[in-house]
Amino acid sequence: MEYKQRTVTCGELRKADDGRLVVLNGWVHRDRNHGGIHFINLRDRYGITQVVVGEQAPEEVVRTAEKLRVEFCIAVEGIVHARPASMVNAEMATGEIEVEVTSLQILSTCDPVPFLIDEESDAKEDTRLRYRYLDLRSNGMQKRIKLRHDFVKAIRDYLCGRGFYEIETPTLIRSTPEGARDFLVPSRIYPGKFYALPQSPQLLKQILMVSGFDKYFQIARCYRDEDARGDRQLEFTQLDLEMSFVKRDDVLLLMEQLFGYVFERTMDVKLPEHFTRLSWHDAMNTYGVDKPDLRYGLPLTDVDDLAKESTFGTFKAVLEAGGCVKALRAPASDTVAFTRKYITELEDAAKVYGAKGLAWMKIGSNHTLEGGVSKFFVGQERALIDRMEANEGDMILFVADQWKKTCNSLGAVRIKLARDLKLFDPKDFAFCWIIDFPLFEFNEDRGHWEAAHHMFSMPQAQYLDTLESDPGSVKGDLYDLVLNGYEVASGSIRIHDIELQKRIFRICNIPDEESEVRFGFLLNAFRYGPPPHGGIAPGIDRMVMIMAGQSSIKEVIAFPKNTAAVSPMDDAPSYVDQNQLDELHLIIKQPEQKG
Ligand code: AMO
Ligand code: AMP
Repeated sequence: MEYKQRTVTCGELRKADDGRLVVLNGWVHRDRNHGGIHFINLRDRYGITQVVVGEQAPEEVVRTAEKLRVEFCIAVEGIVHARPASMVNAEMATGEIEVEVTSLQILSTCDPVPFLIDEESDAKEDTRLRYRYLDLRSNGMQKRIKLRHDFVKAIRDYLCGRGFYEIETPTLIRSTPEGARDFLVPSRIYPGKFYALPQSPQLLKQILMVSGFDKYFQIARCYRDEDARGDRQLEFTQLDLEMSFVKRDDVLLLMEQLFGYVFERTMDVKLPEHFTRLSWHDAMNTYGVDKPDLRYGLPLTDVDDLAKESTFGTFKAVLEAGGCVKALRAPASDTVAFTRKYITELEDAAKVYGAKGLAWMKIGSNHTLEGGVSKFFVGQERALIDRMEANEGDMILFVADQWKKTCNSLGAVRIKLARDLKLFDPKDFAFCWIIDFPLFEFNEDRGHWEAAHHMFSMPQAQYLDTLESDPGSVKGDLYDLVLNGYEVASGSIRIHDIELQKRIFRICNIPDEESEVRFGFLLNAFRYGPPPHGGIAPGIDRMVMIMAGQSSIKEVIAFPKNTAAVSPMDDAPSYVDQNQLDELHLIIKQPEQKG
């Protein structure tokens, strides 16, 4: 089809272009017909331009204009007219002009659309994903995909400028589960054998260090067969990075410099030169989570001593059983009333993490305590109010339980309060490092210790003699980067010593015979002069999601899966032909029908 190719985009015409003859290509965003005059908003990636088919337009143009519907793809030739001052649309970048159409061509038509292309779509998620090609036309999605592009580009520019090599690693690898379930790919050539899709390039990047590529990065696709949630997808993208001859602080500093550069370049946001550092224990103890949102305060406060002196039996019993009592101040609010109903909502949030209840009291005038468990704290009013730095109208909330349960439960209440009371500016970015993580955690179901991060992280030197005797207290050279309450990156200094690596495997219930089978290739590489090394992997989807002010990573991925692990657009996963199964030597065992 012959058609007039654009000479300008829909985002660029200004007053100074008055009188120019131009060609625009784009989609019919809106078409308003005012008494025979068509005002068509023509849209492309760059913006929207108003084009007008007026009364004096050639007859053929008028006839074609009558046929237009939203989302038709068209070519328009016309003359740019500066609008009179009274008609200027300050909301549109091109609002100073309009284009008087002299020739109009329909390049392709469009079926009735399932939803209108707006700034953001209000269609149901599955409808958006089924018609993702339309959804991606919305200004919101276009901006976010651009942000993601800019973000990755800035990362590449920065790291290449610092001497990093970008190296691709395979996505058909040996199955070496890292914590999640592997996606498997059957081998046609070797019946019964499988490749796995990498959960991350962890072992390959470590082997690249053995090969001497001392500064490596990759924008790496990772695959994990786990339940998709707001900030999780089956496949996602990491900035995977590894360096040789570095200590922890070298990695942290590089990340601070990298994200300082990237945020400034892509968002014009200046980050602090260094990010707050919290030990894992302090983060848990003070904020109740290992990924605290530091856009607001609301610390959890220890009140064991006051609880002990109170007359509240529940608290005293918990303390006697070795537990603890923590309190949280809920600041008085103009928008949220601290009603029984609201307190029950808060209590429900605490109970998700196992708290048996949420005790409360309100601060009255003149340093008095009112309601809830206040009657058990007679004589301690002043001490409690001072400790909590509470004011009239505030509420104090308590959880008493074992330390971790208390932290997690009250931490969940803290998050809910901050959201409900709007205690932070959603446009803020609060980074922090969490360091000194426990290396192991006990898996109650399996009955043995497991790596808290992954098995290749270095224990801190002071624990090397007590790894086996007291795994629970071992701290590792691990670090997480947290942004606004999300874990956005994880990394560690790695083990590069075969014997130490085997000790860790054994503690994680992997005997030597098994580690040779599963991880022999890594152990073999470590026989050939491995350098000390460490690295980190920021999640690109999560970071861009936060930068874009979204709460689902689907908003920053062009073609994501839904929460049922399905892509509604192409209906993946799908059945395959019997021939394909035969070639792969696969027989499908149908799951038993339930009920
Ligand atoms: P980890 O498993 O902690 O570490 O992953 C690093 C970062 O990747 C992001 N992320 C995800 N994003 C979306 N969907 C998912 N399902 C998902 N899972 C993880 C998070 C997370 O912080 N090899 C190690 C890193 C290292 O030690 O260098 C690793 O993969 O932002
Ligand atoms: P009870 O004495 O069980 O009626 O509880 C009095 C208040 O204390 C209620 O608001 C409960 O939610 C709360 N509560 C009970 N157990 C705990 C606990 N372990 N920690 C905090 N609050 C609790």
